[in-house]
Amino acid sequence: MARITAGVTTSHVPAIGAAIDNGHTASDYWAPMFAGYEWSKKWIAEEPPDVVVLVYNDHASAFSLQMIPTFAIGCADVFAIADEGWGPRPIPPVIGDSDFACHLAQSLILDEFDMTIINEMTVDHGLTVPLSLMYGQPDAWPARVVPLAVNVVEYPQPTGNRCFELGKAIRRAIRSYPEDLNVQVWGTGGMSHQLQGPRAGFINSDFDHEFFDQLVNDPDTLKKVPHIEYLRESGSEGIEMIMWLIMRGALGKKVKELYRFYHVPASNTAVGHLVLKPGK
Ligand SMILES: [Fe+2]
Repeated sequence: MARITAGVTTSHVPAIGAAIDNGHTASDYWAPMFAGYEWSKKWIAEEPPDVVVLVYNDHASAFSLQMIPTFAIGCADVFAIADEGWGPRPIPPVIGDSDFACHLAQSLILDEFDMTIINEMTVDHGLTVPLSLMYGQPDAWPARVVPLAVNVVEYPQPTGNRCFELGKAIRRAIRSYPEDLNVQVWGTGGMSHQLQGPRAGFINSDFDHEFFDQLVNDPDTLKKVPHIEYLRESGSEGIEMIMWLIMRGALGKKVKELYRFYHVPASNTAVGHLVLKPGK
């Protein structure tokens, strides 16, 4: 049977992708941020997943105000890299796992989560920057990826509780797949940041550290945090962190924290990263 072997969270700041693609990772500004992912790159090389269920949000690349799925699952065999204004990033296409993704879609929908099924879409920095941070610059991505897109850009976003419950449903779906697959679930986005208005550049490290602690040890409290508190405490784009709750819900009641990294700033965002193992 398929099994969940780990959970990963990471910010997906677009400037990180640009720093990699333009050869700036060793600069004074970027080197400390990239150093924080060296442990994880070694770890994932030693414990490589077959498939990553990668929870992220699209930033008006594949979707737009014309269509805003709350939860969408990518069932294609391949996902091209989106052009976000400077041409597609020079990275390999993302290879999907159609059979597994269709099983997840069926299981989630019959489990009463109304997923939008996507058979063709491009993927933007929300999905590709986490791959680059974990895998560097390979000729081909070492794992297949099932993109799971969440609307966090247009009100009303799903609640933290709904995200956590979706994670639990993803756990049931993965564990009912008959093939022997090593699956990781990643939650991306965040941490605190605000891109516009008088508070542009706002970062709240206290909130971020508390979020880390509660995600690991007390997700039942964290899942009740309302949108207005994310807006107030983590900036207008901090709401992306509800996607981490999907990963956490998939890992079960107890988790073991293998690695934590926090860095400020990357562009105008706080970077946060966790590697978790499901507990017994
Ligand atoms: Fe984002």
